[in-house]
Amino acid sequence: MKIAIVGTGYVGLVSGVCLASLGHQVTCVDKDFTKIKNLRNGVIPIYEPGLSELLKKVENNINFTDNLGDALIGCKAIFIAVGTPQDEDGSADLKYVIQCAEEIVEKSKDDKVIITKSTVPVHTGEKIKKITDSRKDIKFYIASNPEFLREGCAIFDFINPDRIVIGSNDDYSKDILLEIYSSFSIEKIVTTDIATAELIKYASNSFLATKISFINEMADLCEKTGASIKNLSYAIGLDSRIGNKFLNAGPGFGGSCFPKDIMAIVNMSKKYDCKLSLIESVIDSNKIRQEKMSKKIVAILDNQLSNKNITFLGLAFKGNTDDTRYSPSISIIKKIARNNCIIKVNDFQALENAKKDLAEFNNIRYHQDPYEACTDSDLIVIATEWNEYSKLDYSIIFSKARDKKILDLRNILDGEKIQKIGFKYFAIGKKND
Ligand code: UDX
Repeated sequence: MKIAIVGTGYVGLVSGVCLASLGHQVTCVDKDFTKIKNLRNGVIPIYEPGLSELLKKVENNINFTDNLGDALIGCKAIFIAVGTPQDEDGSADLKYVIQCAEEIVEKSKDDKVIITKSTVPVHTGEKIKKITDSRKDIKFYIASNPEFLREGCAIFDFINPDRIVIGSNDDYSKDILLEIYSSFSIEKIVTTDIATAELIKYASNSFLATKISFINEMADLCEKTGASIKNLSYAIGLDSRIGNKFLNAGPGFGGSCFPKDIMAIVNMSKKYDCKLSLIESVIDSNKIRQEKMSKKIVAILDNQLSNKNITFLGLAFKGNTDDTRYSPSISIIKKIARNNCIIKVNDFQALENAKKDLAEFNNIRYHQDPYEACTDSDLIVIATEWNEYSKLDYSIIFSKARDKKILDLRNILDGEKIQKIGFKYFAIGKKND
């Protein structure tokens, strides 16, 4: 099928390339012509494992343009995948979605299904419907198809979805979406109305964020009581009603979705006079989390940060991405860097983004090499769960570090091995001896 996707951000670009890999003829549209020019040359603006290789493979099925009118010619379905940034009050700002719908309505020359892929508040479909009502000469159908891709493994997630949600209030748009996803088993597909589809995305992200905050609070309790969060997570995860995923305690959740979406659902619910006190407390719990992590660092350094070198291994909000949006690592560094100390940082993909986030500080040193970042260090903080950090040679790091202390905020190291080398090892959810 001929499909257009507006927005070549993370969701739009990954979805476009993956839809092309299903055999559809996809046109990706973006107003940023430099981005379009780069994409035409195979240059991808984000780091996502496997994406540039897949783009090369599907190059005959995909093209890029800044001209929406051209992209609309002959296409039955058009996805809106533009950003829904956070407004000042925490709500999702729909201005790009609305602008996009208005332009589609203005430039279309025949019937179209308009599908929102962006995460949008419940009843956004109705707002789009009102815009389309202004054209009487052609017919627009509205649908919702929220995206559940995780950064860092987005292509795997697209090919192996837990479910595909199709929200529609009419049979035609439902059938078009069923045709688009016809390569997937029908058991994977949930068809529902638009409002429910819109809310499913927020509910999923809120539940996952709650699960993480729950395990983080259990980690605090483990530290106080001498219990082990690793064993606790493993044991409760064996209960199939709980499930073993998203039970890794850490410095709190970040990224472009969870923090923004839980604020948005709370805000949205207030408009319906429905208080989501559980999710409100998840917002608080995650905020406090980063404060707690920086206090932990200060305590390990005996409240003496002056003239200390503190290393942060990892700046991205999680491993396998260059994304630093709402990264716990960045937020903790911001708290620590206000002191008279030197912060030495490393990341495998996120150094450039972090430089922008931390531009206000002149006591941060950026290192491409993790071993260099650990040289003369008084404390090494593992802040992002890059697999590579568990594979470093810690005996080399031991010889380079000044004081021999590691704080593993992601519990990725083998504590016993690290202690045998001679380090003092601090982890999450484990009482320090
Ligand atoms: C998330 C959702 O998983 C995805 O379905 C949605 O489309 C977008 O938002 P993403 O933001 O890419 O995906 O990252 P995810 O892997 O879900 O991790 C989010 C945050 O939670 C990260 O900061 C991560 O480190 C943290 N996390 C995750 C934990 O602290 N513990 C865990 O057990 C899992």
